[in-house]
Amino acid sequence: KHITLLGAPIQTGAWRRGCLMGPDALRTADLAATLTVLGHDVTDAGDVSPEVLSVPATENQTIRDLDLCAGWVRALQAAAGKVTQDTIPVFMGGDHLMAAGTVPAMAARAETDGRPLFVLWLDAHSDIHDFDSTDSGNLHGTPVAYFTGLSDFSPQFPVLPGRVDPANICMIGLRSVDPHEKAALARTEIQVADMRAIDEHGIAAPLRAFLDRVEAANGHLHVSFDVDFLEPDIAPAVGTTVPGGASFREAHLVMEWLHDSGLVTSLDIAELNPFMDERGKTARLMVDFVASLFGKSVLDRPTRARG
Ligand code: ARG
Ligand code: MN
Ligand code: MN
Ligand code: MN
Repeated sequence: KHITLLGAPIQTGAWRRGCLMGPDALRTADLAATLTVLGHDVTDAGDVSPEVLSVPATENQTIRDLDLCAGWVRALQAAAGKVTQDTIPVFMGGDHLMAAGTVPAMAARAETDGRPLFVLWLDAHSDIHDFDSTDSGNLHGTPVAYFTGLSDFSPQFPVLPGRVDPANICMIGLRSVDPHEKAALARTEIQVADMRAIDEHGIAAPLRAFLDRVEAANGHLHVSFDVDFLEPDIAPAVGTTVPGGASFREAHLVMEWLHDSGLVTSLDIAELNPFMDERGKTARLMVDFVASLFGKSVLDRPTRARG
């Protein structure tokens, strides 16, 4: 498979600085070589740069770095919009506002094939705030409300090149959801497996159900992997740690299942903040997970059938 690595060093969506180093930390942890060894044809297309924009102010004055965030969303939509169907892009973030650029572009790409885009959102957070509802003013908490069209982000963010149907989104790992987000989720068909559901039923149950739906609909599948999906002990390099996250084994199982499904057509690695890391361990762990998603396995035979 052709894999294109594209750096999205955005950090203005987050409160804490450091995510701009995310792409370089993944490069330093040998992401490209690791995927090449697995037999893939890998191109590192370098980093995207933000457009220089000045957008009208929002009513909510607490939004952080609106101009730069809007410039990033436009630039990422443009760059991701150039990715062809025969390529699996790995977008190396950058804070999670990156998904406001990557996901609409992937939705538009799927649409040219007449296929729906599904999104697997691996995260402690639902990131479904909008300009009005955010209490923090940090726009990395908003991409889902934007790319579903559930809230209006005009004229600051671009008109969506492609939109994701909320019914085609599955969120796994949630454990920090603000009151407004809770209400927003309750109004949508987004499927949510919070940590409690994972404790009760295991992580495979919601994943299996979702992958079956993607397959039945002949969909494209975008995976948006926020590092804070993981338990902070194993992945300290994030600005917004929340205890009680996915374990190494749970995340690893998700990656192997995603590989075996053969359904993944694009990937975000979001919120990696190398300034918070311990001797590169989170960057290395993420490279290891991406490798599992792209075929690194323990045994060269199926260990189980899905379904
Ligand atoms: N809900 C919180 C906020 O809106 C946290 C968002 C964290 N998002 C993230 N992508 N890490 O500020
Ligand atoms: Mn997130
Ligand atoms: Mn998060
Ligand atoms: Mn909030």
